[in-house]
Order: sequence, then structure tokens, then C-alpha cells
Amino acid sequence: MSRTSYPRHKIRITLLENIHPAAREALTAAGYTVDVIPKALEGDELAAVLKDAHVVGLRSRTKLREAQLALAPRLMAIGCFSVGTDQVEIDAAARCGIPVFNAPYASTRSVAELTLGCVIALARRLGDKSGKLHQGQWDKSLSGAHEIRGRTIGLIGYGHIGQQVGLLAEACGMRVLFFDIQRKLPLGLAKPVPTVEQLFDEADFVSLHVPETAQTRGMVGAPQLARMKPGSYLLNLSRGSVVALDALRNALADGRLGGAALDVFPQEPTPVQAEWRSELAGLPNVILTPHVGGNTEEAQRNIGIEVATALIAFIDRGVTEGAVNFPQIHLPPRDGTHRLLDIHKNVPGVLASVTAIVSELGANIEAQQLGTTKDVGYLVMDIDRQLSDAVRDRIAALPSSIKTRLLY
Ligand code: NAI
Repeated sequence: MSRTSYPRHKIRITLLENIHPAAREALTAAGYTVDVIPKALEGDELAAVLKDAHVVGLRSRTKLREAQLALAPRLMAIGCFSVGTDQVEIDAAARCGIPVFNAPYASTRSVAELTLGCVIALARRLGDKSGKLHQGQWDKSLSGAHEIRGRTIGLIGYGHIGQQVGLLAEACGMRVLFFDIQRKLPLGLAKPVPTVEQLFDEADFVSLHVPETAQTRGMVGAPQLARMKPGSYLLNLSRGSVVALDALRNALADGRLGGAALDVFPQEPTPVQAEWRSELAGLPNVILTPHVGGNTEEAQRNIGIEVATALIAFIDRGVTEGAVNFPQIHLPPRDGTHRLLDIHKNVPGVLASVTAIVSELGANIEAQQLGTTKDVGYLVMDIDRQLSDAVRDRIAALPSSIKTRLLY
């Protein structure tokens, strides 16, 4: 049976900010002691948690900067139960020997479903119809209402979300075109187009699924909107900076576009900000949602399970696959050995020093894997059991070592 060097129940994991209960269940079932604090923490309250925790799980509101990491002597991993990791200074965490895990794709399906919902809602002008009826107006006009069957959706960005949108759209009878800067295998009957311009020319619905990069910032502005077919629709459920909103506003106000759906905005309000108004508010057939593409119970549960699973794999087996700031190591477990983890400064000569220690002590290395990033090296080594404690002590004493751990 595999055991961590430390009894599992002595490993303290603190989950902040209402992380989905599935995470607590998985971590408790793995044998760790899990504390749950429903709110975000800062200042002294956060310092008190960091003093003892071996692992901290957070969502987006608790910030872990270098100053906070310095208060966490035992911290061995951070779980960001979110798509991004902006809330943590990940390079500083790496220098402290702490891998950071997140769940970049757990909300893929939720975003794809909302996108398809918006495609239908735009085609039927649902936002306007519902708004009017809320005001007591019974507007049954069919003007501007269409089926989506047989129409063309153009996906810019054919990654995790783009591909799912393509599959859902095709199931509804749509023709799917996509443009991506990487070569992507088309799913179903989707067709790549050689230039993004062709996609703007041909699509009835243009849907954006790109990350925020120097290249995508402002990639949809007046020239691109001018290419779009009269009466066509734009959807952005990716990142707010991708679309120039003033140009979109003009295209919608002129009636050149048939409508738009936006879930993300260049400047989004903080959770406590009471009121926020978009410059597109009040325009016809414009669906505005407050960055909720990935906000479903299912996505939160997926995030909880995905990050908890990654944390367990790291604590129990030293696996760092999926960590955003660490060398990616996944050494299959090997019976009859002890596993030594050495997180060290990425300076020349570490492997030579480790090898010298192992041979001096007469230990046998059954398997090993080393990975490095800019600042950090991570060595996982399976060695024979008799000598593992001595090897650990000598390696931990090397000046290059940041954190050294033995898994029995
Ligand atoms: P992904 O990384 O799987 O796919 C992005 C794709 O865009 C990649 O295939 C990439 O090659 C392509 N790409 C990058 N630059 C491009 C360019 N200049 N032109 C064309 N293609 C380009 O990412 P994923 O998971 O599909 O996410 C897509 C977007 O959705 C991201 O911006 C993400 O932040 C956003 N998102 C929004 C959510 C919401 O709540 N509305 C929730 C989750 C993600």
C-alpha cells in the first residue's frame, strides 16, 4: 500500500470561497484533513490559514502574492478552483517550490451550450420579445425571425469550446466553418477556411472562441464588421478585449448587423459594484449576459473534481501534470520503491550532485524523471527502500533544494 511520508490525515487542506462540495468529498475520501471556509480571505485571516496549511484551494477573490506565500512555510500546492490563475503569483509560487493547479477546460460544455442558446435566441429575437412581454406588449411579428437550420456559423478559434459549439450547431442542422491559427482536425462536417476574412464574408453567425493575446485584442473592429453579411450576428463569449465595442455599436445601430450576444466585456465590474451599464444597452436584438458562460452547477462540480484529483495525484505520487507553473512530471508508480521528490533551484550541477549522493550511499535508482522551467527543477526518483531516508536527508541539505519530500 502506498503511504505519503506524512500520515495523510496530518495533511491539512483549506478550501476557501465556497468551492464545490465535490472537492471536499474527494479530498476527504483520499484521507486528508479538509477545512472549509466559505468566504474569501485576506490580511490576518489569510495569514492564519497559511501558517499551517499544506494545501490551499481558492477561487478568484483570494489573492496569493509573493508576500502571502512568504507566510506559508508548509504550503506544498495551491488549487485554483477556476479557469484562470490570475489570483496567484504563479512564478513566485514556483520559486517557493509550490505547483499551482487549475481547471482550464471544466466549463467548456457550459460555454458551448450558452453559445448555441444565444444563436437561437438571436435568430428568433428572443431577448426583445421577452423584454416587450415583460412590459405588457404582445408582439407576435415574425419580422427578422429565422430558423438556424441550414445557416452558416463561423467559429473563430476552434479549441475546446469552439469544437463543442461546432458539434452542437451541426446537430441543429447548421453548416460549420472555422478559422484557427493552429491546424485543427475538423469534427463532424466542419470545414476550416484559409483566412479569417473568408469566414466574415460567409457566416450568418460569427462566434468568437479565442484566448486574449496580442493578436486577438481588437481583432473584430470596423473593417471586420463591415465585411459581415447584412443582417448577420456576432457572438462573443470569449474575452472582452477581442471586440471593439464602439465599432460594434455603430454596426448594430445602423442596422447592418442583425444582432449580437456578448457575455464578456473589456471592463467588467467588481462583484461588489452595484450598477454597471454597457454601451450596447438598449440596442435592438442585443443579448447581454454578465460573464456567466461557464457558471453552471455542472461546471463548478467539474472544476471541484478536476482540481482535487490533480492535488491528490501531486500529494500522493508527485505528479505535476496540468500545473501551470511547474515542470510536467508523470512518472508511473513502481512497486517496491520509495519515491523521492526534489524541487530545486534550476542551477547547473544539481543532477550530478544528486547522482553522487545516491552512489555514495550505494542506493539504487529504479526510475527517475527530471523536468525544468526557468527558475525551478523538479526531480522525481524511485529508489530502494532501505536507503531512502538517508538519501532524502542528504538531498534536502543541498543548497539548491527548495522542497524535498519522500513518499513511502
Ligand atoms: P482553447 O485554448 O482550447 O482554444 C482557443 C483556440 O483559439 C485555440 O485553438 C487557438 O489556436 C485559437 N486561437 C488563438 N489565437 C487565435 C487567432 N488569432 N485566430 C484564430 N484562432 C486563434 O480555449 P477554450 O477553452 O476553447 O476557450 C476559448 C475562450 O473562451 C478563451 O478566451 C476563454 O477565456 C473563454 N472562456 C469564457 C468563459 C465564459 O464564461 N464566457 C468560460 C471559459 C472560457
